[in-house]
Amino acid sequence: MSADRPLVFAHRGSSEALPEHTLAAYLRALDEGADGLECDVRLTRDGHLVCVHDRRLDRTSNGRGLVSGKTLAELDALDFGSWHPSAGDDPLDDPPNPDRTRLLTLDRLLGAVRDSGREVRLLIETKHPSRYGADVERRLVELLGRHGLAAPRPDDPVRVTVMSFAALALRRVRTLAPGVPTVYLLELLPPGVSRGRLPFGARIAGPGIGLLRTRPQLVAALRAAGHGTYVWTVNTEAELDLALAQGVDGVITDRPRFVLDRLGVG
Ligand code: G3P
Ligand code: CA
Repeated sequence: MSADRPLVFAHRGSSEALPEHTLAAYLRALDEGADGLECDVRLTRDGHLVCVHDRRLDRTSNGRGLVSGKTLAELDALDFGSWHPSAGDDPLDDPPNPDRTRLLTLDRLLGAVRDSGREVRLLIETKHPSRYGADVERRLVELLGRHGLAAPRPDDPVRVTVMSFAALALRRVRTLAPGVPTVYLLELLPPGVSRGRLPFGARIAGPGIGLLRTRPQLVAALRAAGHGTYVWTVNTEAELDLALAQGVDGVITDRPRFVLDRLGVG
């Protein structure tokens, strides 16, 4: 699977520069030349998929409580940008650009990626797989279907891969959309995976960078078994060196331009 360099995925958008999971952070990542975008999705109380990492609203918005306890309309009234150090950077930005502060739905992100006209790989991570039964995956596959992305073709400019730490979610995606590739995310290492076996047809493993330090044979074992590796979150020179030395296929980073510069990509 390895090309001459790993793919570079913007983790929650260009999320060092701009507030994570905002449309502005994703558009910045595309401008910076990222090969792909990473996005976490959660369900609102009324069943919409929104791009938010945390279970609670408190860290990345001016709201309080659980994302899953609010309707889309309630979330849409919140400010998801002013917490970030970049807020107020541009004194001429008056009124502030709503793309930097507004909740992003997955529907809107898919539309923006398509409208960019670029070749883009989208890594969508489903959160809370057990709380709503199969609702997250079902709604995700429905939405991908509406965007023509649930049955991928090799020449599609936008290519979606679904990721999860939960094997259960991967199994659901394989059942609902067998053509959509999946990534098995890993914080720890189940024994089967250390021997190169991934659950439910997952093509790629997604270990945290810490696992590459403690298990230096992992990427090679996965490769020998025909699996690729996308590693997260690669933000420093040392982390990138480690990932490159082990021959990973993709790096997921908050700093796509920094990584592309180090890789010599113009
Ligand atoms: O892309 C994988 C990585 O994002 C997993 O961790 O907590 O940032 O979603 P987290
Ligand atoms: Ca994630």
